[in-house]
Amino acid sequence: MRNHISTKHAIAPSIQPLTSLGTSPSVSFKFHFPSSFLWGAAISSYQTEGANYNSDWYVFEKEKKIQEAARAANHYELFSKDFKLAKELNLKAVRLSFEWARINPKPGVYLEEEINHYKEVIQTLKILDLKPFVTLHHFTNPIWFAQSGSFQSSKNIDYFLGYLKRIVEEFKDDIQHWLIFNEPLVYVYNGYICGRWAPGVKSIRTAQKVLRNVISAYIDGYKEIKNIYKEDNIPSYVSVVNHIRKFSPCPSFNFGQNSISAYFKNKISNFDIIDYLTKKTSLDYLAVNYYCKEYVKFKGLIGCECPHQFHKERKNYLGWYIYPQGLYELLKKLKGYNLPIYVMENGSAETEDSLYKEYLFSHLKCVARAMSEGIDIRGYFWWSLIDNFEWDKGFGPRFGLIDVNYDTFERRIKPFAYEYAKICKENKIEI
Ligand code: BGC
Repeated sequence: MRNHISTKHAIAPSIQPLTSLGTSPSVSFKFHFPSSFLWGAAISSYQTEGANYNSDWYVFEKEKKIQEAARAANHYELFSKDFKLAKELNLKAVRLSFEWARINPKPGVYLEEEINHYKEVIQTLKILDLKPFVTLHHFTNPIWFAQSGSFQSSKNIDYFLGYLKRIVEEFKDDIQHWLIFNEPLVYVYNGYICGRWAPGVKSIRTAQKVLRNVISAYIDGYKEIKNIYKEDNIPSYVSVVNHIRKFSPCPSFNFGQNSISAYFKNKISNFDIIDYLTKKTSLDYLAVNYYCKEYVKFKGLIGCECPHQFHKERKNYLGWYIYPQGLYELLKKLKGYNLPIYVMENGSAETEDSLYKEYLFSHLKCVARAMSEGIDIRGYFWWSLIDNFEWDKGFGPRFGLIDVNYDTFERRIKPFAYEYAKICKENKIEI
C-alpha cells in the first residue's frame, strides 16, 4: 500500500499542533500507513512485573524512603492477560524488557526457572502473533552488580556481557529485535548527575565514566549478538534506545546564551550517541523515545531546565511541555542517518481521556507527516501498554493504554485506547 497524505486545506494543516481534537466535525487529515507498519506498545520489567527484590531499585526505594514498586502492576503473573488485551487492541508488536536481576541474582548464577518464565512470556506473544522487541537493560541492575560498582568500573562490563550472551543464545530463535540499553543518557543523568534515581550519585566525573562504559558495553554487546546470529544464519536487528527531546531556549534577557545552551543540549542529548555509534557501524536501526519539549536556560554551556509560567505549550500531569511538532522536526533530522526508525516510546501521563487522545493523534500526525516526506519509520510504540511504576514519581502518573487498579490488579482498557486500536486495525489516521 502506498503512503499518502490528503488535506482539505490549501496550507498544510498538518503543520499545526492540534489543540481541539475530537471537537471539530470536519475531517482534515488522512494518512495510510504501509501494511508492514508495526503498531505497538512498550513496557519495562521493573515498572510492571512487581516483586523484583534482587534489583538495585528495590534497595534504593528503601534507602530513600520513596514509594516502592512492590508488586507494581503484577505483570509477572498477569502477562498473558496483558498481552491478550494488547491483541484486543489490534497491536502487532510489544516492547518489553527482561529483568537482569531476576535471571542472574548472584554472579555466575542463572536461574532456569526465571529464564523459563521469560520463555513463556515470549511464547505467549508468539501465539498471539505479537512481535517482541526486547530490552536487555532498562535502568535496573542486580544488587550484586550495583555493589561491585556497576558500570562505574570497566571491569564490570563483562558481567553484563555474560548476561547478554546467555540470554541471546537462549532466545535467538524467537527474538530478532534487541535493544541492549534503554536511554543511556537518561540513566546516567538521573542516576549519576541529579542523583534522583539509583544509585543516587551526584558526580559528573562518575557520570562520564558510567556513560563511557555503557557505550562500550553496547558496542561489545552488539558484536556479540551479531556473532551469535551469524553462526545460525538468522537475521538480527540490534539497537540502543535514545531519548530525544525538543530543546528550546528560554525566552529571557540572555536569550543568546540560552540559545547556545539549547544548541549544545540538542547536540549532546539527541545526536551524539547516534553519531558515535553509526560511525562504529553498531546500529541496525534507530530506536527513539519522544515525549516533550524542554526550555533551556544558560547555566554553564549545557544549561538547565527552565520552567516558566509563560510558555505557551500545554503541560501534562508531570508538568512536561507537550509539543508534537518537535517529534516531526527530530524525525526529519534523523533521516540523515539513512537507517530505519522506530518510535519506541511516545505517550503521556494525563488525567482526562480527551488529553490522551489529543496527545496520541497529534503525535501520530507528525509521524505520518514525516513518513509522507520519505522518512523510513517502521513502527510506533505507545508508552505504555499498562499503567505502571514511574520510578521516583511512583504510581501517580498513568501512561497506560490500560488502566490498572493497584489494589485488585484489575485491568480496564481506557477509552482513548480504542481509538488507537481503530488506527492500528485500519492502518490509517483520519482527523
Ligand atoms: C523511560 C520509561 C519511563 C518513561 C516515562 C522513558 O524515558 O524509558 O521507563 O517510564 O520515559 O517517563
